[in-house]
Amino acid sequence: MPRAHRKDEHIKISISNPPKRADFSDISFIHNCLPDKNFSNINLKAEYLGRTHRSPLFINSVTGGTKRSLKINAALAAVARHCGLPMAVGSQMTAIEDSSSEASFKVVRRINPRGVIWANIGSYADPEMVIRAIKMIKADGIQIHLNAAQELVMREGDLKFEGMVNRISDIVKKVNVPVIVKEVGFGMAREQAEILIKAGVAAIDVGGKGGTNFLAIENRRSGGQVSADFCSWGIPTAISLVEVASAAQGKIDVFSSGGMHAPLDIARAIALGAGAVGMAGYPLYHLYRKGPIALVKRMRKIENELRLILILTGAQKVADLQKIPLVITGYTAEWMQRRGLNPDNFARCPAILCDKDQRI
Ligand SMILES: Cc1cc2nc3c(=O)[nH]c(=O)nc-3n(C[C@H](O)[C@H](O)[C@H](O)COP(=O)(O)O)c2cc1C
Repeated sequence: MPRAHRKDEHIKISISNPPKRADFSDISFIHNCLPDKNFSNINLKAEYLGRTHRSPLFINSVTGGTKRSLKINAALAAVARHCGLPMAVGSQMTAIEDSSSEASFKVVRRINPRGVIWANIGSYADPEMVIRAIKMIKADGIQIHLNAAQELVMREGDLKFEGMVNRISDIVKKVNVPVIVKEVGFGMAREQAEILIKAGVAAIDVGGKGGTNFLAIENRRSGGQVSADFCSWGIPTAISLVEVASAAQGKIDVFSSGGMHAPLDIARAIALGAGAVGMAGYPLYHLYRKGPIALVKRMRKIENELRLILILTGAQKVADLQKIPLVITGYTAEWMQRRGLNPDNFARCPAILCDKDQRI
């Protein structure tokens, strides 16, 4: 099946069920009954990839390559422009192979000429392909996606995984925009994050388990070639974040995605170390069900609730969430202990740590 049509099947399956929510239930804020600040001064600005962004939210990579995806990209770009959010396009390999599908990606830059837009391609791409993808949409950054689990179950899957890290480090040297490496829903562990940091990437998007599940999607497309049990493979988003943040130690930006849409989870992800939070399945679903105006309202509602959470934890700005006490219990705490990370470092930190203090 041509790559572009596969993309339409992904859309069709993704919107057939409401988006799933990542499991952050082991992560608790401590209510602060003396916030000592005014709601009007709560600030959602987020600093990452060398810029100040209006809020920590971004629209993650979804689609491109077909007539249907042109319409989706146009609508998502309009929402991103309206809300002032960065947006990533779907994999541009279709347009690298066949220039007739470039329009479905270029529409994003046409609709949002001054917005922050990220290009997207797989880790099989060489630097020349990446440069073409960036130029195609005058991108401000490039996402390189890692999706080994998906490829293994995909009917048309590419099962050659050798050489990814060398290609990524080559890409980092040859492009002049930040390189973001992202998983697509199976998460990332500390060891692989360390390799990617050494390769010079600017940011890692953990793309954890809990939201869109590409094993389940490909299993449906391929008529059930693996068990439902196998489709639960992956590292949950919250755990992935702790793993990657422990490797990053502030050297690179860390993004959280994979089932992120509840404001409380977004705040919890930031508290665990995320500088920004991406959503793919959620905006796609709401765009289809309710349209772009309703999606803009939802994004605003999420941002407003984030402000409520900030003030009730005693935070004034988004980055303060990483300096307030956070209680980590259950499976997540046990996982951290087994992996040599101390959950108590989050729970017992003083109200405001010095900037140089690290929790992990
Ligand atoms: C329909 C659909 C198509 C996607 N296509 C791409 C893609 O082309 N490239 C990519 O890096 N990620 C792609 N993703 C993955 C998302 O960017 C994201 O990593 C993943 O869906 C987990 O986030 P979510 O739970 O918010 O959906 C796609 C997601 C969806 C729902």
